[in-house]
Amino acid sequence: MRVLVIGSGGREHALLIGLSRDPQVTELHVAPGNAGTGAIASNHAVDVSSDEAVVALAAKVAADLVVIGPEVPLVLGVADALRGAGFATFGPSAAAARIEGSKAFAKDVMTAAGVRTARSEVVDSAANLDAALDRFGPTWVVKDDGLAAGKGVVVTPDRAKARDHAAELLETGHPVLLESFLDGPEVSLFCLVDGETVVPLIPAQDHKRVGDGDVGPNTGGMGAYTPLPWLPAGAVDEIVAEVVKPVAAELVRRGVPFSGLLYAGLAMGADGPAVVEFNCRFGDPETQAVLSLLKSPLGQALYATATGTLADLPTLEWSDGAAVTVVLAAENYPGKPRAGDTITGAQGDGVLHAGTAFSDDGAIVSAGGRVLAVVGTGVDLAAARADAYERLASIKLPGSHFRSDIGKAAQEGRISIPSGE
Ligand code: GLY
Repeated sequence: MRVLVIGSGGREHALLIGLSRDPQVTELHVAPGNAGTGAIASNHAVDVSSDEAVVALAAKVAADLVVIGPEVPLVLGVADALRGAGFATFGPSAAAARIEGSKAFAKDVMTAAGVRTARSEVVDSAANLDAALDRFGPTWVVKDDGLAAGKGVVVTPDRAKARDHAAELLETGHPVLLESFLDGPEVSLFCLVDGETVVPLIPAQDHKRVGDGDVGPNTGGMGAYTPLPWLPAGAVDEIVAEVVKPVAAELVRRGVPFSGLLYAGLAMGADGPAVVEFNCRFGDPETQAVLSLLKSPLGQALYATATGTLADLPTLEWSDGAAVTVVLAAENYPGKPRAGDTITGAQGDGVLHAGTAFSDDGAIVSAGGRVLAVVGTGVDLAAARADAYERLASIKLPGSHFRSDIGKAAQEGRISIPSGE
């Protein structure tokens, strides 16, 4: 099977590594890829938001399967164009990708499906902002109502900070979504979805704030771990039954069946799981940890989803133990990251590239905010954390930073679901 992966981040590098381990995968291509993906796939410098360019590349490499990693091409309808040209494609249609691309659509689907989520209100004018803020908080949750790669979110008990963020978004022409705060630890549950068939992967937890102890601004994600020792047995089944299946069924009912990866971001509250957000693709950096424990052939799972045969896929098998991803970020991330710095030691197992490129003289240089995602595995969370940080210690990037506490609270038993008393 010849597979073309669309995207350039750590998630796509992880997908390629997973695909390269599938005996049925004979050839790997990626567009545009990065300095790390070139070691296991052919990189193609193509504009991945252009339908024509992606379809032409899929034809050129005679792809048997195209896997779309990021949300932007999905929301733009690149999967529709590929399917229209006859390619088996992993990733939802533009209509179904609105579950991530339009928060109003997602809320409407969740309401119709009876799924627990935050109360919300869209504010599109500064004149309405103060009255709307008074109907929420504390704590305030202020989001960019469009795609913002996780960085458009501010969660704060400080009304002035919430107001400043909302006003800044409005000034730059971005409608604001205010939400009620959902209490409880967060879970990222990735599910392969083909119409009403839902196959969950193992649950993970992201670390969205930039600094140790969950301080500082939100990022695209600074690290993740899987599985979640604090999550009760049966919770994944509960999330699938109460959240993912009803949403998948509602999308089918509306004539926009989902095909691809549906990512439920949840808060585990006293009343059960509540949806923080849905994404229409694998999450980053959780994917890097989750796929490192997958024993079943990834290509076959993605192909079954893409071709409407997910219900026939054998049960997915997972390695015992745990996996931890630690992101190495460029100086100034999540602000405007510094690029062009030489990275050394960024080779070897478990070192996944995200924002990297080759300089003219062939050196590996930083080219994005999240530069590398380093994955450690082990018999338990402590061993996986030790493995990840040991790998990270041999990598050098001037000005870079990372969190030193990925998975630490879980390892120390400090995460629990509120009891409601
Ligand atoms: N892990 C956050 C995201 O992928 O959006």
